[in-house]
Amino acid sequence: MNSAVTTGVVITGGASGIGKASAQMLAEAGRPVAIWDLDAAKSEQTAAEIAEQYGVTTVGLAVDVRDTAAIAEAVAETRKALPSIGGLVHAAGVVLQTGLEGVTEDNWAQVMDVNLRAQVLITQQLLEDFKANAGSAIVGIASINATLGNGLIPAYSASKGGLLSLTRSMSDELATHGIRVNAVSPGQILTPMVEQVVAQLPEGTFERRIQMGRLGDPLEVGRAVRFLLSSEASYITATELVVDGGNIPSQR
Ligand SMILES: NC(=O)c1ccc[n+]([C@@H]2O[C@H](COP(=O)([O-])OP(=O)(O)OC[C@H]3O[C@@H](n4cnc5c(N)ncnc54)[C@H](O)[C@@H]3O)[C@@H](O)[C@H]2O)c1
Repeated sequence: MNSAVTTGVVITGGASGIGKASAQMLAEAGRPVAIWDLDAAKSEQTAAEIAEQYGVTTVGLAVDVRDTAAIAEAVAETRKALPSIGGLVHAAGVVLQTGLEGVTEDNWAQVMDVNLRAQVLITQQLLEDFKANAGSAIVGIASINATLGNGLIPAYSASKGGLLSLTRSMSDELATHGIRVNAVSPGQILTPMVEQVVAQLPEGTFERRIQMGRLGDPLEVGRAVRFLLSSEASYITATELVVDGGNIPSQR
């Protein structure tokens, strides 16, 4: 039997939506959490709320995950604040509705650097922590748009498809050190990112296509993330867990 993993977890994009819900669910299981997000006040507030609610050690830091130097500073701060680091949830993400003609060098790079490249740069800098802690694991938040074709969001779709390939590549190397790497692909989840899209569309637009007939709650994704970071998932690596209420498989 595998003993429970209790190491700390870094959560990018942890001050909102799916990142915050993942941090809450990990904290509920007793895992210390480091909230990394763009805004210092929001990160600190989220960390304080989680510490208060779940009684675990937390820290909230301002970090732009596109910036290697900022990642290095955040790693140093997190090492000081948490007893150990044995997990990463890469949930920071941006989506730009450009269509093909709206793609520029800059907006393409912005989406790729946040959604995809950051997982590599952060893992490089946390590798010694992961190697030192048994049961270490990484979860990247991909999307059903890695699989579906949506002409409005070419860079986003490519970044998420890339994240699935990156998951398999990183897993191949890191499995030799006992570190598992997986992706969670959420469907339509009611977070600030999606609420603004829902508000612009006729009522029921998304619900119609989803077998379960409703959008998801961020905590429903957070629980899947928590599972993949736990010893319950000890033989699961290089895979994609889709959490979409039956959206990809739907023919509606
Ligand atoms: N909500 C959905 O339905 C849905 C579906 C599929 C995938 N996703 C993915 O889930 C992840 C979380 O999205 P969400 O819906 O919770 O959105 P959200 O906008 O609520 O949260 C995203 C967070 O990422 C942070 N962020 C953005 N750029 C950053 C940067 N450069 N450095 C650090 N932090 C940065 C934002 O400040 C924000 O707090 C994203 O990767 C998104 O693509 C969301």
